[in-house]
Amino acid sequence: MNKVTAAITAVGKYVPEYILTNKELETMVDTNDEWITTRTGIKERRILKDKNKGSSYLAIKAAENLFSKKSFDPKEIDLVIVATATPDMQAASTAAFVATKIGATNAFSFDLESACSSFLYGISVASQYIESGRYKKVLLIGADKNSSMIDYTDRTTCIIFGDGAGAVMFEPNDEGNGFQDEYLRTDGSGREFLQVPAGGSLQPSTIETVKNKLHYARQDGQTVFKNAVFNMADVCEKILDRNKLNNDDISWLTAHQANKRIIEATGRRMNLDASKVMLNIQNYGNTTSATIPLLFADYEEQLNKGDKIIIAAFGGGFSWGAIYFKWAYNS
Ligand code: UT7
Repeated sequence: MNKVTAAITAVGKYVPEYILTNKELETMVDTNDEWITTRTGIKERRILKDKNKGSSYLAIKAAENLFSKKSFDPKEIDLVIVATATPDMQAASTAAFVATKIGATNAFSFDLESACSSFLYGISVASQYIESGRYKKVLLIGADKNSSMIDYTDRTTCIIFGDGAGAVMFEPNDEGNGFQDEYLRTDGSGREFLQVPAGGSLQPSTIETVKNKLHYARQDGQTVFKNAVFNMADVCEKILDRNKLNNDDISWLTAHQANKRIIEATGRRMNLDASKVMLNIQNYGNTTSATIPLLFADYEEQLNKGDKIIIAAFGGGFSWGAIYFKWAYNS
């Protein structure tokens, strides 16, 4: 009998209705469509305008979309993980609220935060719970209301980020599909280059921190860019080597959507044809924890059972890694 693997059996997504285009950004900061398009690949991003709604709203909508596509009894879900860098609030689990709202009343739940690598690490965690035999249904949701931590007068960050969410269901698989291998890394010396300085325990929010805009995300774009290109390509090569895979074996690269140039550079290092590199950054920008599940949702119809996928991410921390995964169903 085959070893039990953790497969994705359903996906869902949600992006808010409001579209913030490059043209509109031109009226807000000193930028232009040509610069944004050539430097990042982004054309538009979605923004959750309702001030009374947080990341949980995006997460719930993504889960509801998943349930509308494939029927599940929410009461059968064992665990709900919400991967997010923008939880509703600091000290109450966003996942607990989401689980209750979607009717997963027999589940326990927790948030998982590792900046743009949150969802990637979530795949690792969800898979272990399934492979161990402990649980049969784990719902992993990546949701970020990035607009809550963006300074819309700072052209170096406001052009990049957007809001959104994606949800995937993990279940046991006995055909060998699903999770295969992972290569995950962190390096805390990178934390100064990408962070929201205030609002945590190190520097709680005060009138001064707000005046100095320390509650907004800031990054040293070039340093993050160089580290992202080097490290994502490095872990992708390592996981290919370790699993004796070459570029022809791989059906898809599902990479965190932070910058089109980073994604394309990673694809080139793997000698992958551009048609195998999933891309939707043009529509959503960088949605942090939601980029990978949004790719699965947007590409779902093109994915086939047995497709070999490399999932990769790089983000604040620094944190990064690659996961080798086999798709488990035809839609
Ligand atoms: O998901 C988490 C991980 N995050 C990332 O992976 C982000 C990685 N970094 C990047 O994607 C890129 O570094 C950025 C998109 C943030 C910036 O692109 P870049 O090609 O590295 O630009 P740069 O920072 O080197 O700036 C080049 C020039 C500068 O002007 P000067 O000094 O050459 O005159 C900037 O002031 O572009 C200027 N600039 C802009 N111009 C128009 C910076 N932002 C803008 C803007 N519009 N929005």
